[in-house]
Amino acid sequence: MSIISKDISKAITLLNNEELVAIPTETVYGLAGNIYSKKAINAIFKTKKRPLFNPLIVHIPNIDYLEAIVAEVPEKARRLANAFWPGPITLVLKKKPTIPDLITAGKTTVAVRIPNHPMTLELLSKLDFPLAAPSANPFNRISPTTAQHVEGYFKNEIKMVLDGGPCQKGIESTIIGFENGESIVYRLGSTSIEDLEAVVGKVEIKNKKEAAPEAPGMLERHYAPKTKTVLTSHLTETLEDYKGLRIGLLTYNDILNDDAIDFKIVLSESKNLEEAASKLYDALHQLDLQNLDIIIAEQLPDYGLGKSINDRLFRATKS
Ligand code: TXA
Ligand code: MG
Repeated sequence: MSIISKDISKAITLLNNEELVAIPTETVYGLAGNIYSKKAINAIFKTKKRPLFNPLIVHIPNIDYLEAIVAEVPEKARRLANAFWPGPITLVLKKKPTIPDLITAGKTTVAVRIPNHPMTLELLSKLDFPLAAPSANPFNRISPTTAQHVEGYFKNEIKMVLDGGPCQKGIESTIIGFENGESIVYRLGSTSIEDLEAVVGKVEIKNKKEAAPEAPGMLERHYAPKTKTVLTSHLTETLEDYKGLRIGLLTYNDILNDDAIDFKIVLSESKNLEEAASKLYDALHQLDLQNLDIIIAEQLPDYGLGKSINDRLFRATKS
């Protein structure tokens, strides 16, 4: 029997009983539980096979709720919250002592956001607690942007996916923190650097790629298909390199027709970066199901959401 359902009251009952429910957001589906329930939070880490040193994002229903979670809100954080919430930006702020260490992996800061999805906003407003929700994929696998993706991963582990349709943005929220008055981006995401800078001025990007990361989104291998993946800015030459193999192609708008290609996905024929972002993970999911020898992904323009998409494609090539 399918675990996919649109029944918000069923989700409320499960969450009140310290169970997990996968929830829709505008970015990706999240694997949600009560932030104050040890049982639920442990189940999140166990279900995802996520290392305990990776902290979780706290999802709240409105800006007023921030007071219950964080000790202080710097001026720049306030401006970003007002500009982008509900929406795909996560603020890393000094935590209140009441926020469990399990959520923050022992850090003195907590990551928090208001997701922009009507069903999840309704759900959050009807609960007496915020929801911790990492992306609803096993550690190091492609993030889910449909209820069906989540069901494919976890149908035996969780009781319900709240079905809110395909995610509009399609890549994770942008994570930003504040160190000595500077704004620091820890993870590129669905809010572009240009949009952030229009609100708070220059930001620093610390989207690190080494181990022991500030944010696990910084771990090199992440968001990865099982199929070997390469990223290129020279499609024709790269195709030549892999001649004779079963090739899957992921391009921005290229309508290149080549007999050497077994399966092809075009992210946006009209060269629209928003459209490309929204299709990215589903494209990787589909490509991964084709029994290909290699996925060749074309690099996108390195501005706006193109920067975030290239970051995810780069990580998909790591094995
Ligand atoms: O779009 C999203 O943000 C999705 C949806 C479901 O809301 N959630 C998501 O969660 O991507 P997750 O757990 O896959 O990624 C959370 C990121 C991790 O990279 C984590 O390290 C970072 O947030 N993070 C959490 N707390 C942090 C903190 N105190 N300081 C720095 N990074 C933090
Ligand atoms: Mg994730």
